[in-house]
Amino acid sequence: MIDIDWPGLKAHAEAVMAKAYAPYSKFPVGVAGLVDDGRIVKGCNVENASYGLGLCAECGMVSDLASSGGGRLVAVVCVDGQGNYLSPCGRCRQLLFEHGGKEVLFMTEAGPQPMSHLLPWAFGPEDLGINPRG
Ligand code: THU
Repeated sequence: MIDIDWPGLKAHAEAVMAKAYAPYSKFPVGVAGLVDDGRIVKGCNVENASYGLGLCAECGMVSDLASSGGGRLVAVVCVDGQGNYLSPCGRCRQLLFEHGGKEVLFMTEAGPQPMSHLLPWAFGPEDLGINPRG
């Protein structure tokens, strides 16, 4: 079982939050994830003048995950501009489920919560009869 350094993960999330491109909402978000091989992956939100095209921080993080070698997310911390823990939006829960499954832990005000609590009865690769890593 890999050790989770929650304060360290939060520090990574806060550092990448400072890089957010959020001129429209003025709501910067940063997220950091621990991968099962010990890597840290990160992302920030990147908005667009065509508002609906804005990318959540989690989108950037899963791109970092894939482009840096893949693997499974084990633990995730997402923060807003004040460093408060942020709850992931519905679309991002689905993104995190794809790359961390039911077990990935997401830090909240009430402590770490497994994805199975944040997204119960999730639709995933097995519903398509696919093992993406098999
Ligand atoms: N946002 C994220 O980056 N992740 C979330 O899980 C919730 C919302 C961003 C999207 C938008 O740029 C800003 O926060 C305000 O909604």
